Amino acid sequence: MYISKLTLQNYRNYLVENFDFSPGINIVYGANAQGKTNVAEAIFYLCTGYSPRVTREKQVINHNAQSAVITATAQSKIMGNLSTSIEFLQSGKKITVNGMPVQKTGELIGNINAVMFDPKQLKLVQESPEDRRRFLDIALSQMNRKYFYALQTYKKILTQRNNLLKDPDRDLIFETLPVWDEQLAQIAITIISARNDFIDKLKPLCKKAHSIITNGAEDLEISYDYKFLGDESEIKQSLKQSLFERMEKDIELGYTSVGPHRDDIKIKINKTDARIYGSQGQQRTAALSLKIGELEIFNMHFGEYPVFILDDAMSELDGLRRSNLLSMLQGVQTIITCTDADVLPCENASRFHIDNGTIVRGE
Ligand SMILES: Nc1ncnc2c1ncn2[C@@H]1O[C@H](COP(=O)(O)OP(=O)(O)O)[C@@H](O)[C@H]1O
Ligand SMILES: [Mg+2]
Repeated sequence: MYISKLTLQNYRNYLVENFDFSPGINIVYGANAQGKTNVAEAIFYLCTGYSPRVTREKQVINHNAQSAVITATAQSKIMGNLSTSIEFLQSGKKITVNGMPVQKTGELIGNINAVMFDPKQLKLVQESPEDRRRFLDIALSQMNRKYFYALQTYKKILTQRNNLLKDPDRDLIFETLPVWDEQLAQIAITIISARNDFIDKLKPLCKKAHSIITNGAEDLEISYDYKFLGDESEIKQSLKQSLFERMEKDIELGYTSVGPHRDDIKIKINKTDARIYGSQGQQRTAALSLKIGELEIFNMHFGEYPVFILDDAMSELDGLRRSNLLSMLQGVQTIITCTDADVLPCENASRFHIDNGTIVRGE
């Protein structure tokens, strides 16, 4: 799959700009604060309805405008021509898929697919379990809309269960908890089974990617505490059992201490915990390897690669790691942002020089 055209109107520091991307490597380069990440962000938005940088959506609207529109046109081997657009308004946003308005962000997902890597992904290795769960959730939501909706429902039920746990009326807790547990366990089946399956696939794929990027110098191993295994009814039963066993403890804590919202992935490089002992460079490579693993799983799932966005990731890698990485991206449309296009060993790439929210043409 590849994006052939991206249009930005009043989006961040862009007024009107069109990007005609090629199916291979595309390099978006320029000095700091010119609008390179804004391009990466817009693409990811059009694929997932989500931007990791945005806290309030209207902040993407150009300071001098009332609304912004971004549009992408893509070609898929499986789904044919695709287009998505998002109009950002002062209150809310309007989404279209193939020209038709859709009501929910969920309906955008699973059309144009993308995997994004940016310097913040270092959090995937360095920081909290929440960052690693977000990694799973974004990938799995794109692959399966049912997962996205299940996750939303799960969070709602969890909030209600947690509120109940804090209730001073213990009789009410004991009476009502089984109702929530049943609902929580039922909706969790979709989440748990998808995560189990994803991590099974991810393990060998990220290991291989890490070995290629580091020329065999480093071994990446991820592990996951599979608490709830088996078929759907076994997963449900074992989660319900765990919820029941932790009930007293959870009442004491005032929150639910077991379930997929507590999952984590352990990441080891050469047998030591990458989070604690890994150098910054090793952690970055590990995060990148996880993303390459994700890219491969998308390919297995959809029968074609998604668009790969590498925002500001290249400058951090040495020359060898850089070319090893690029060697894995044959046949993958890759949008690379960087400050210096010359350091990238790709002769056939399309290049876009960005200056203050415009493409410098005629170079
Ligand atoms: N809503 C907005 N309106 C106008 N300019 C914006 C808006 N949001 C961000 N910018 C500008 O975008 C620029 C940063 O763009 P970015 O893509 O992050 O830069 P870089 O090229 O370093 O990746 C900054 O100059 C910032 O002021
Ligand atoms: Mg940037």
